[in-house]
Amino acid sequence: MCTPYLYFCVVTATLGGLLFGYHTAVISGALIYLIPAFQLSISEQAFAVSMILLGALAGSLVGGVLADRLGRKPAMLFTAVLFFLGSIVTALSSSYEMFLWGRFVSGVALGVITLVCPLYLAEISPSSCRGAFVSLYQLAITIGILGAFAVNFWFAEKGEWHWMFGCGALPAFIQVVFLFFVAETPPFLFRHHKSKEAQQVLTRLRRDRAWETQLDAMKSSAHQNQKGKWKVLFEPQWRRVVVIGILLSAFQQITGINALIYYAPKIFQTAGFPSADSAILATIGIGVVNVIATVFSVWLLDRAGRRFFLLLGATGMVVGLVSFVLSSLATSTLVDLIALISLMVYVAFFAIGLGPVTWVVIAEIFPLKIRAKAMTFTTFVNWFCNYLVSLTFLELVSLFGHRGTFLFYALICVGCIYFVYRCIPETKGRSLEEIEAELGRLR
Ligand code: BGC
Repeated sequence: MCTPYLYFCVVTATLGGLLFGYHTAVISGALIYLIPAFQLSISEQAFAVSMILLGALAGSLVGGVLADRLGRKPAMLFTAVLFFLGSIVTALSSSYEMFLWGRFVSGVALGVITLVCPLYLAEISPSSCRGAFVSLYQLAITIGILGAFAVNFWFAEKGEWHWMFGCGALPAFIQVVFLFFVAETPPFLFRHHKSKEAQQVLTRLRRDRAWETQLDAMKSSAHQNQKGKWKVLFEPQWRRVVVIGILLSAFQQITGINALIYYAPKIFQTAGFPSADSAILATIGIGVVNVIATVFSVWLLDRAGRRFFLLLGATGMVVGLVSFVLSSLATSTLVDLIALISLMVYVAFFAIGLGPVTWVVIAEIFPLKIRAKAMTFTTFVNWFCNYLVSLTFLELVSLFGHRGTFLFYALICVGCIYFVYRCIPETKGRSLEEIEAELGRLR
């Protein structure tokens, strides 16, 4: 059903996920060296971490417009060029201000790609593999995070933080080159009255010609999608589904995952790891667990269901966090080992639940008419909460300690379990129209 050319387009687009993961996580290992290099205070450290997120907030607001006006492919090209420039500026920065600018530029790319990459994947895929291709995006994020942890470890010995950031330019460069060969998506082409070109692209993406029977539906759906102003999101008929999307997106972040992804080596150092190297090595362990658990989720999600994985995931996160909090009671030789295992449990359960399932549910629950706008909104909320966590984490730690802060995240996970149990509909195996009808009834 899928041609090798389709796989090529999928791999090229998912490089966007890889860049997402790399650019957000690389700061974790570099921070230890940035503090003395730029003499950073606590608030400057928090800002060094969260600057990329401010850029992402800005990017998430323009991503939808770029993708709709210029096209999905040019929007991806734009992000790849920005990622490349952001890496170079950050790597060469000789002052804190220049560093912040470099991170901001990478951030804008992040905000745009978060929306465009899943959108592109969903629009080029046949419906039978759409779920798998969208989850591949999350898998690519986790591989990017692991790549950043590994690069950090490689350069840790000499403290070469410039290279840690500079390496991010390589996948961006590869994506720029590959993007010249990928196709624009058929729905975008239909919407811009390039019907002939859209059909040529479909011929290259699909082995069979089954799509020919759906041509009329594709055309009318592409035009329907064009309508709708921002205020439709607040109409009573969509309110429930928009609130569910926003809350799920927020819970993915405020349960604290990025406190760990961005600050892991610092956390491990405080938990008793003797050197910066060993703390970064423990962080790699976190990255490996994140990738493996995501593969497990991608594999089983369509069988086990969204609700099950969300509930299981959030419950496991509570267990991991509480065990991290209790690890301080252990004897001194075991403290760091228990702390590491606890955080691995936490990340593993995030990776089977809130990590991938959030993106899948958000891509499924919005009716076509409001999908692009609702996704822009939820992506913005996601980045905003991400920003909030990264900005407040160090302050929370200085007020309540690591353990108090993680206990706080555990309580939010409990709130998330309640929310999922009460509000998230099971969307496994249902068509988007059935989901739309059911959410309409629940209103
Ligand atoms: C989240 C990121 C997070 C990553 C961790 C993604 O789904 O959106 O904020 O860093 O998962 O794997």
